[in-house]
Amino acid sequence: MSLYKAAIIGGGNIADKNHIPTLKQLSDQVDIVAVCSRDITKARALADKHGIPQAFDNTANLYAQCALDVVVICTPNNLHFPQTMEALEHNCHVFCEKPPALNAQNARAMADLAAQKGCVLAYNFQLRQTAEWQLFTRCQADGLLGDIYHIKAHFLRRRGIPGWGYFTNKAMQGGGALMDLGVHVLDLALCALGYPTPSQVLGNTYDFIGKAGGKGLMGNWNPAVFEVEDAATAYLTFSNKASIMLSASFALNTQADKDRNLELFGSKGGVNLFPFMLHTELAGELADVQFPYLEEVDIQLKNTGAFLDACAGKPSNVCTAEQGAILQDIVERIYESAQAK
Ligand SMILES: NC(=O)c1ccc[n+]([C@@H]2O[C@H](COP(=O)([O-])OP(=O)(O)OC[C@H]3O[C@@H](n4cnc5c(N)ncnc54)[C@H](O)[C@@H]3O)[C@@H](O)[C@H]2O)c1
Repeated sequence: MSLYKAAIIGGGNIADKNHIPTLKQLSDQVDIVAVCSRDITKARALADKHGIPQAFDNTANLYAQCALDVVVICTPNNLHFPQTMEALEHNCHVFCEKPPALNAQNARAMADLAAQKGCVLAYNFQLRQTAEWQLFTRCQADGLLGDIYHIKAHFLRRRGIPGWGYFTNKAMQGGGALMDLGVHVLDLALCALGYPTPSQVLGNTYDFIGKAGGKGLMGNWNPAVFEVEDAATAYLTFSNKASIMLSASFALNTQADKDRNLELFGSKGGVNLFPFMLHTELAGELADVQFPYLEEVDIQLKNTGAFLDACAGKPSNVCTAEQGAILQDIVERIYESAQAK
């Protein structure tokens, strides 16, 4: 297998804690040759920390000086579109952080350019690699669930408005809880249905707590500059009558914190994903089946591996550019529905 030459763009938390250590574990497939971030001192420090030879503070110099095969985009959401387009123009495969873009038009253009260039563009929805999701897909493939016709998906924080970074800045993030958290469980719900486009989308967004201020469990946010939704709800219906109920929150008056789950209801069986339980009928009785021996998975390692498999033309379950465009279109339709009340 050829050794891909890779660069990391954006030198913040996800690059330092997730992508760089993961790519280092896959050094038989990929070699990180450069880090590019806004601040050269920080880029150099990050490169030195991880033993990466080169550091840049702008992408023009990065592409001029490095012959790259792969680019991993770890910048704030508003940069995913321009930096992905630039990487594709340089014929690089792109592994981009979620959400794909700020709007549907940009995500569509990213998918179109990837197809035109014959490059892989994939998004880092790593929950696909959890042992629970993999088990769900096996139950589905084995016919244990029948047709999935309704899904409840949520990703809720009680007071998890981040007190750092750009999370409450609309121009940089494009939205709040839906863009940041809801997209993860929406991606899984869409996977369960074969990634269709909904025929109808009904959405609502809220900012009561974000704008009022209060006790934070993830640092203290400034309500005076809170520009995004602290919670979003949506109901999606599909032409085959399937439906998804989605909710996401940075802040919600609920007991649970950091509560993320999907319930998937099929004609033969249903699944509660976290913790995994299969609800079905066995030997003429109603049964709840647990799987106590599921093994912990390094989901970032598996998802990056899935991206590299896609680059090598192998079967892969990584989120594709086309799926990212569908998902971003749904997110936009939820925001439009909310705005239209
Ligand atoms: N998949 C996940 O579960 C997950 C988890 C956390 C974050 N993320 C995503 O990762 C992305 C980054 O999040 P983060 O938490 O690392 O943020 P961060 O603020 O810690 O890092 C962003 C980095 O981008 C750099 N940057 C800003 N402008 C730049 C530019 N023009 N060129 C190059 N670098 C630039 C910043 O200096 C900073 O180092 C976001 O899109 C976020 O949604 C995904």
